[in-house]
Amino acid sequence: MNTKTIDIQERIIVALDVDNPEAAKEMVKRCESQTRYFKVGLQLFMASYFEVVDWIIDRGHKVMLDLKFFDIPETVKLAVQQVNSRGVSLATIHGNDAIIRAAMEARGDLQLLAVTVLTSFGEEDLRAMGMTQSVEDLVLFRARRALKLGCDGVVSSGLEAERLRKDLGDKLLIVTPGIRPGSNVSDGTDDQKRIMTAGRAIATGADHVVVGRPITKAEDPAGVIETMQQNIIAAMSNPL
Ligand code: C5P
Repeated sequence: MNTKTIDIQERIIVALDVDNPEAAKEMVKRCESQTRYFKVGLQLFMASYFEVVDWIIDRGHKVMLDLKFFDIPETVKLAVQQVNSRGVSLATIHGNDAIIRAAMEARGDLQLLAVTVLTSFGEEDLRAMGMTQSVEDLVLFRARRALKLGCDGVVSSGLEAERLRKDLGDKLLIVTPGIRPGSNVSDGTDDQKRIMTAGRAIATGADHVVVGRPITKAEDPAGVIETMQQNIIAAMSNPL
């Protein structure tokens, strides 16, 4: 666990993985009694560009812009420049040292997170790409490098959050997707392989969790968020 003080209403970042701005706004309205942090990813951004981002920020909420920039350093730098003065709180980038360095030059007040290894990747996927490291070692290697280059934090699964926190300290911001209520083991029913409950992820080291389908596909999204927040509070007061 880490020592940052983060309001419970900002611990869960709701992934607005919907295909149009109207559906996104509807989802924000259904969730905002419980949380004030929302993630806009590729699908929604392609449908509305900054319209929905500005709308969420104007409503007083925070936005994580998850476009996972990856290109030559100059292009990534110019892309970050397009985002850095719009009130977005967090943005995600991929890449090697030169790409991260270029992004850092343009970030202004924007906090940047380096993606380590996607939570839909398992050990077998790394082997299939000819990589011999374990997922955990690769996540740690990439996170250490990102931190050294001045990145504010990383995106990693809950399975690596504990080791990242222990090895890299409190300053690093850890944002964890792949959250499933009530389960720390994937049942293979969707694309996420390295999963964990919200409470366990936060109690073992994550600062925020990103949750999409368990909330957005629920009958009562605010109710699911509230249950997850109780799970977080309980896990934090009684770490495993
Ligand atoms: O629906 P689910 O809870 O699996 O959604 C997870 C969200 O987190 C998606 O928007 C996905 O793009 C994002 N994400 C992820 N793994 C990463 C980075 C982001 O699943 N490493």
